[in-house]
Amino acid sequence: MAMTIADGVTYLPGYLDRAAQEALRDTLRKIVAEAPLFAPTMPRTGKPFSVKMTNCGPLGWVSDKDGGYRYQPTHPVTGQPWPAIPDALMAAWSDLADFDAPPEACLINFYGPKARMGLHKDSDEEEFAAPVVSMSLGDTGVFRVGGQERKAPTRSVKLSSGDAIVLAGPARLAYHGIDRIVPDTSTLLKGGGRINLTLRRVTEAV
Ligand code: SIN
Ligand code: FE2
Repeated sequence: MAMTIADGVTYLPGYLDRAAQEALRDTLRKIVAEAPLFAPTMPRTGKPFSVKMTNCGPLGWVSDKDGGYRYQPTHPVTGQPWPAIPDALMAAWSDLADFDAPPEACLINFYGPKARMGLHKDSDEEEFAAPVVSMSLGDTGVFRVGGQERKAPTRSVKLSSGDAIVLAGPARLAYHGIDRIVPDTSTLLKGGGRINLTLRRVTEAV
C-alpha cells in the first residue's frame, strides 16, 4: 500500500516481503565480498561518516577529504568497477520510479546501532527529473524528511525492513537524514544493523 506522506514523498511499508528481503540480503553479501564496505570521510575536514558504504551499478557515490562528494565508476579502495545492480532492485526501480531510463548508481549504506546520517540533499546528480528510490533492510531507522530549504518543517517516519520510500518531483531535492537506528528491531541481519539502498539516476537521460 503506497502512502503519500508529503508532496513528492511516497512511503511503501512492507514493499519487500520477508522472502524478498532474505534474497536481497544474500545478494548483498556477495556484492560486499566483491566491493567491501568503506568508511567515507567528509570533504575538507576528513571526519569519517558513522555510516559505512559501498555501491553497485556503473557509478558509485563516494566522499573523501580531498575529492569531496562525487560519483565514480570504481571502488575507492580496490580500484575495481562496482558490481552490477541486482535484478530485484532494477525491478523495484521499474515499478516505482516512473522514469524511462535505468538507475546508474545504487548506494549501499550500512548503519551500526550508533550510526546516523545528518540532514542533507541528494544533489550530486545531474538528473533531477528522476526520483531517488530507497529500500531498507534490517533494523528500523528513524528517517526525517523536510523541504528544499533546511529550515522547512520536517516529519519523521520509521523505516522498517522491507519498506520502500520514493523522493520524487518536489521532494527530489528535499532535505532528509536518519536520526537514529532502533536496535534489535529485525532478525534479518545476523549481528544487527541497518542497510539502506538508494537507487539514483546520475547522468542526464536524453
Ligand atoms: C541516504 O540519504 O543516503 C540514506 C537514507 C537512509 O538511510 O534511509
Ligand atoms: Fe540521501
